[in-house]
Amino acid sequence: MSPRGEALRIGVLASGRGSNLQAIIDAIARGTLPAQFAVVISDREDARALERARTHGAPAVFVNPKDYRDHNAYDAALLRVIEQHRVELVCLAGFMRILGAGFVRALAGRVMNIHPSLLPAFPGLAAQRQALDHGVRISGATVHFVDEGVDTGPIVVQDAVPVLPDDTEETLSARILEVEHRLYPAAIRLFAEGRLQISGRRVEIRTQRVDSSTVGREGGPTAN
Ligand code: GAR
Repeated sequence: MSPRGEALRIGVLASGRGSNLQAIIDAIARGTLPAQFAVVISDREDARALERARTHGAPAVFVNPKDYRDHNAYDAALLRVIEQHRVELVCLAGFMRILGAGFVRALAGRVMNIHPSLLPAFPGLAAQRQALDHGVRISGATVHFVDEGVDTGPIVVQDAVPVLPDDTEETLSARILEVEHRLYPAAIRLFAEGRLQISGRRVEIRTQRVDSSTVGREGGPTAN
């Protein structure tokens, strides 16, 4: 809930299957996440995520990278859609593009990402493959605020899963995905409840809403 008593307006950016988007849809439907979809955006016209959004009745927008001359122009186009739909929190959910510094600065403290590893281990692509190749015995999932690096921003929540001797990329990904589906709605809920405060690299989770006179934006965390 925002301080105005309205459900938090979230914008989800997704490139593919959209199972994390579905977990967010389901949490809202169950009444465990006080949020609403302002918009779902994809860089792929055929993304299953767009279909899931439409089925739910959420605005679903394809922004075609080919229509823009470079990354900055594309990011600016994304920002326009986000602003038009009055998004309060942007959630990256399997969005397979790196967002530039301009985008991140414009939305400082208001962009979250989910990543299939225990960051800072295995950032970037194919995190589950990286974990298997490295031989770790534990991996997991991380929800973090997005900063200007790749998967380097302040960590909101994490949870671990075992890596089993006969795991393949598929079996490990599936085990991690179960955690992701729990973790992302929980992290968004903390944001919606105004309980997150960013202090440098750390995200403090308050038991109560951060006083609205100190938050950078309604419902959003304070960044120091
Ligand atoms: C998820 O495992 C997510 O953590 C990962 O892509 C998958 C998307 O699945 N994201 C990244 O690797 C970002 N670096 P989904 O489309 O079913 O939500």
